[in-house]
Amino acid sequence: MKVFILLAVCALSSAYKITQLKVPLYADPRRAAELSCHFQMDDQKLHSVKWYRDMHEIFRYNPSQKPPIRLFNVTGIMVQGGECQAEWCLVRVMPPPVAARAAYSCEISTEGPKFQIARQTKHMTVVAMPERDPVIIGAPKLVKPGEQILLNCTSDYSLPPADINWYIDNELQKQEPWQRTEQSLPQAGGLRASWRVLRVPVPPAESGALRVRCEAALPVEPPVRRDDAVVLTLYSRTQLSKYVSNAGTNVDYEIKLSLVILWICIFITIGL
Ligand SMILES: *[C@@H]1O[C@H](CO)[C@@H](O)[C@H](O)[C@H]1NC(C)=O
Ligand SMILES: *[C@@H]1O[C@H](CO)[C@@H](O)[C@H](O)[C@H]1NC(C)=O
Repeated sequence: MKVFILLAVCALSSAYKITQLKVPLYADPRRAAELSCHFQMDDQKLHSVKWYRDMHEIFRYNPSQKPPIRLFNVTGIMVQGGECQAEWCLVRVMPPPVAARAAYSCEISTEGPKFQIARQTKHMTVVAMPERDPVIIGAPKLVKPGEQILLNCTSDYSLPPADINWYIDNELQKQEPWQRTEQSLPQAGGLRASWRVLRVPVPPAESGALRVRCEAALPVEPPVRRDDAVVLTLYSRTQLSKYVSNAGTNVDYEIKLSLVILWICIFITIGL
């Protein structure tokens, strides 16, 4: 019995239906998004096309009225306009600058007295991806055993803002209360940059290296991750000679200074 009812409904509704609803999966909060609805009326006459965002009507096309198009302002969303014809209808919306997901529906209805409707819904999420990898600042190439260094990692502007995770040799570092991810003031479209500092206690070992990685993760589905890494090389006095060939000017200078002191010592010793 149910199958017959279903078949009967299908037979009735096949006369008018929505053939395609196009809603972008992600919308950039800095640009208007274009949504389109294609339908087929066959022998039926189109009464109206309505667009909804969640439960609220945002746009109506009624070909028999003057003007045929009406826009409705819903809090936080700006319907910029649209264009409709006998078989399609498109709208341009400026999504609110918050990283949210909303349902957009297209609804067509036939002329009276029946006013039958067909409706389809798709979701759109507001997201602005970071354009660059995060950047770590404050990392010296060589670090002394037992030294404390402070690194700062900044992620590019995005919506939602990125969460920052630090890893030392692939081990996730716990967020101390004073080292939480901080955010900049919002830019146009609600995009924010974020940063987080990390205090690295350099182990008292004689030699070795630490690989420190900063990951910027956007809490969206599926997650978006970008990263940057630095290698900190440990050096101690006994090891200095190893770096003579490729070390920077600071170390060179230190070595020259040690040599000068050494020579002075030798002269003093000889003199005595
Ligand atoms: C909707 O609201 C925006 C800003 O609040 C305004 O600029 C725009 O003209 C409004 N549109 C309509 C159709 O009322
Ligand atoms: C980290 O860098 C950001 C900018 O990239 C800056 O605003 C912030 O003050 C820095 N934090 C520290 C503790 O240096």
